[in-house]
Amino acid sequence: MTETPRHDGPFEIIAPCATDAPEVSVLWCASIERLCVRDHQGRPDILRAWTENKTPEHLSAAFTDPTLTWRAARHGPSGAIAGVGLLGPEGIIRAVYVHPAFVGQGVGGLLLQILERAAIAAGHDAVTLESTETGHGFYQAHGYVQTGPAVGCFGVPARPMRKALSPTDPQSGRSAS
Ligand SMILES: CC(C)(COP(=O)(O)OP(=O)(O)OC[C@H]1O[C@@H](n2cnc3c(N)ncnc32)[C@H](O)[C@@H]1OP(=O)(O)O)[C@@H](O)C(=O)NCCC(=O)NCCS
Repeated sequence: MTETPRHDGPFEIIAPCATDAPEVSVLWCASIERLCVRDHQGRPDILRAWTENKTPEHLSAAFTDPTLTWRAARHGPSGAIAGVGLLGPEGIIRAVYVHPAFVGQGVGGLLLQILERAAIAAGHDAVTLESTETGHGFYQAHGYVQTGPAVGCFGVPARPMRKALSPTDPQSGRSAS
């Protein structure tokens, strides 16, 4: 069961396909390199480990994995893909990455809302994730709480976070703010 694709302002939510993989690859790597400086601190070894599997080939294959729910936000006026989000099995949010050119325009919040709705539709009563330092305040602002000490991922600290979801709770699938 999937949620209905939707529009929000100039952004349309899509399920990315193989032809989108090169653009998603570029935006994901740009988001890591330019927005997550607090996490990678410019270290080439960390950047390499973090970005090396974000190739068009890998993404193109991953987009067809039936256990994964991929969503992307397309900016209508320009046609550019502004952000990408990924919900894995077990209600784990695996990614929310926005292109640096579109930060602060509601794309991250929109993708998070869509992934939470997909998790509810899949029968989950909570979502979990491991947050970058960069993303921590964003997730807190959307009702996520840290559940333990940071663990390592690609050489950067990743904070475990959780948010309870309820189909009858007006806050579920919506921003906390
Ligand atoms: C974190 C990220 C996804 C936020 O995306 P965005 O499109 O800029 O966020 P939005 O514009 O949707 O912001 C939504 C809300 O979260 C808040 N917010 C965003 N980033 C925040 C931060 N770092 N700290 C606190 N609040 C934040 C905004 O103020 C906004 O609140 P408002 O609706 O009351 O104005 C984006 O900066 C990004 O891609 N960062 C790099 C990748 C990353 O670290 N992703 C998390 C991986 S675990």
